[in-house]
Amino acid sequence: MSTTRRHFLSAAAAGLAAPLMAQRRSANDNIQIALIGAGGMGSADVRSSLAVGGVKLVAVSDIYEGRLTRAKENWGSDLFTTRDYREVLARPDIDAVIIGTPDHWHQKISIDAMNAGKDVYCEKPMVQHVDDGKPVIEAARKTGRIIQVGSQRVSSIVYQKAKDLIQGGSIGQLNMVEAWWDRNSAIGAWQYSIPPDATPDNIDWDRFLGRAPKLPFEPVRLFRWRNYRDYGTGVAGDLFVHLFSGMHFVTGAIGPQRVYATGGLRFWKDGRDVPDVMLGLYDYAASDKHPAFNLSLRVNFVDGAGESSGFRFVGSEGILTIGNGVTVTKTPRESEPGYTIDTFPKAVQETFLKEYSDKYPKQKASADAIRPESEDKYLPPPGYSDHLDHHRNFIKAVRAHKPVIEDAVFGFRAAGPALLSNISVFEKRVCLWDPQTMTLS
Ligand SMILES: NC(=O)c1ccc[n+]([C@@H]2O[C@H](COP(=O)([O-])OP(=O)(O)OC[C@H]3O[C@@H](n4cnc5c(N)ncnc54)[C@H](O)[C@@H]3O)[C@@H](O)[C@H]2O)c1
Repeated sequence: MSTTRRHFLSAAAAGLAAPLMAQRRSANDNIQIALIGAGGMGSADVRSSLAVGGVKLVAVSDIYEGRLTRAKENWGSDLFTTRDYREVLARPDIDAVIIGTPDHWHQKISIDAMNAGKDVYCEKPMVQHVDDGKPVIEAARKTGRIIQVGSQRVSSIVYQKAKDLIQGGSIGQLNMVEAWWDRNSAIGAWQYSIPPDATPDNIDWDRFLGRAPKLPFEPVRLFRWRNYRDYGTGVAGDLFVHLFSGMHFVTGAIGPQRVYATGGLRFWKDGRDVPDVMLGLYDYAASDKHPAFNLSLRVNFVDGAGESSGFRFVGSEGILTIGNGVTVTKTPRESEPGYTIDTFPKAVQETFLKEYSDKYPKQKASADAIRPESEDKYLPPPGYSDHLDHHRNFIKAVRAHKPVIEDAVFGFRAAGPALLSNISVFEKRVCLWDPQTMTLS
């Protein structure tokens, strides 16, 4: 155990706020990582993390034996594997853990990991329930560990470009944002494969359930956990949260004050208890980063050619869209007076037009000044991966012990309104949220 790590553990044990401090690790040392939850995304996280370079995977934990076997097939038979993640956290040779479990385990494992002196990359959504958020923020503050949440858009050069353009005034004043995620396929709607060897012998069912209600062994609930509110967070926690994190990064917004969402289960009636269509409306108050604006979000599993997701940022002088890349379209502002003018007497028309043009002088859109024509469309280089960049940022932060953009506060400010959308749908109510204090009233 390094001197630095001992220092952090003792500070945490004393309950002191441990500020981020420089590690004494040399730039050539490998960062030793472990994976907890070795399914689809956890495995993808490991691949990106290893691709960063200077990273070694030493341990994997999963409650399904097949995924531990697969981890050894992928990353070597000398890998330490266990069904009990606490054995991973007890190892002094691990600097950071990636948490790729279902959502209902995110809070507990993140806090346990930070208390054990590990830095954490936790998949989104940071937490499953609104009440889970503040304890994670508090654990990060107390232990001084780094926690990065896995919404990779905040590390994307595409979103950085959108941020630069909007903050540079390319669409004038931001008035409204629309974002959507449409899917129309079984995989898109989370009908994931169930392995034929799924039995109580090779699955630690109680450890999967964790804090969820005790139920008899039923593999579909593990392998399609997103379909059940006991373990997942529905389309809002799964997909709205990506839209919130991307939009907050681009605009500098920290969250809505008012949340209203509606939805229902329309097509995929396979036993799931979460909607497959959800529509959300959000009011953002003005801040020093942006004017007041309205947001609408849509996720549906009933429409779309395969899958499509995007953003429209609607400003006073143009519209910026994010899809594969970023596009800015200038919208000439309508500056003619209303159509009833010719019903007024001639002299009144003239007075009206004079007053109108004094009040609304014709303006050359300021977008022209800052946006050369060549930047109308911005595409990332072929093969670009924001996921790789997100892991690169995490590993860099772990190595230097520097803060990350998507820390627990950012992560909770993205997860919070997504989770409120669920409350709004299930309890049929409008939710009022204080995005500064992250409190539901
Ligand atoms: N950032 C992204 O773009 C992105 C994409 C997909 C999924 N995700 C997130 O990643 C997480 C995992 O999703 P997934 O699609 O990989 O699910 P998955 O079902 O493929 O993998 C989850 C794994 O966790 C294991 N597990 C369950 N309880 C555990 C426990 N207590 N200890 C250890 N392992 C446990 C399961 O056996 C399974 O192997 C989710 O939170 C999801 O929202 C993020």
